[in-house]
Amino acid sequence: NAAEQVGSKRNAGYRAADMVEDGMIVGLGTGSTVFFAMERLGERIAGEGLSIAGIPTSYQAALRARQYGIPITSLDEHPEIDIAIDGADQVDPDLNLIKGRGAALLREKCVCDATRRMLIVVDQTKMVDTLSAPVPVEVLPFASASVSRRLTLLDGRPVLREGIKKDGPVITDNGNFILDCDFGAIADPRHLEAEVASIPGALECGLFTAYGEKIVVIVGEEKGCRIV
Ligand code: A5P
Repeated sequence: NAAEQVGSKRNAGYRAADMVEDGMIVGLGTGSTVFFAMERLGERIAGEGLSIAGIPTSYQAALRARQYGIPITSLDEHPEIDIAIDGADQVDPDLNLIKGRGAALLREKCVCDATRRMLIVVDQTKMVDTLSAPVPVEVLPFASASVSRRLTLLDGRPVLREGIKKDGPVITDNGNFILDCDFGAIADPRHLEAEVASIPGALECGLFTAYGEKIVVIVGEEKGCRIV
């Protein structure tokens, strides 16, 4: 149920925050699970004098960091990051991910690429045998129709993401659109990610397939966590 899921997310987030060490530069992902990690980092900063600086992947993450008293720095100043904590929408057994429900995938992938270790915090509902969720693709608005057409040629069904509290398309933190592209069950995520990356105007997609070696998945459970 919903309360158990929140508890699982909290357990995963707290465990990730407890893996952060003094002096680290920490990538801060977006979403409800990471916010528990940020809450715990805030507690550690206030309680034990933990000294860190965070690199937020979205306006939402930056606002939360301020709320929890986490000092902020930038990828400009730290092009190499010690550790990052982020959520995911689906995780497969090879640690391929689908991300981007929160439309923060472009900066999240930049941070994932720049970090030495990537802690992915999820609850059990995100763990799947085969990735199958719609893949968010951040697109240059100028090219949204041409990118849509190309995604259709890859057997995807792209849908322009629209706002809930805003009329018209969702505008990302980078000023772009999101196409949520349903490919059904994805047999070869690495190949699909490369195909999407080759489309001019497709700025990034929510498939993360190149980072299995640096990813540690922390699966929150009702009592405690499981590390994958
Ligand atoms: C943000 O764009 C996503 O990549 C999130 O990391 C993902 O949607 C996880 O969100 P929750 O932790 O809220 O499920």
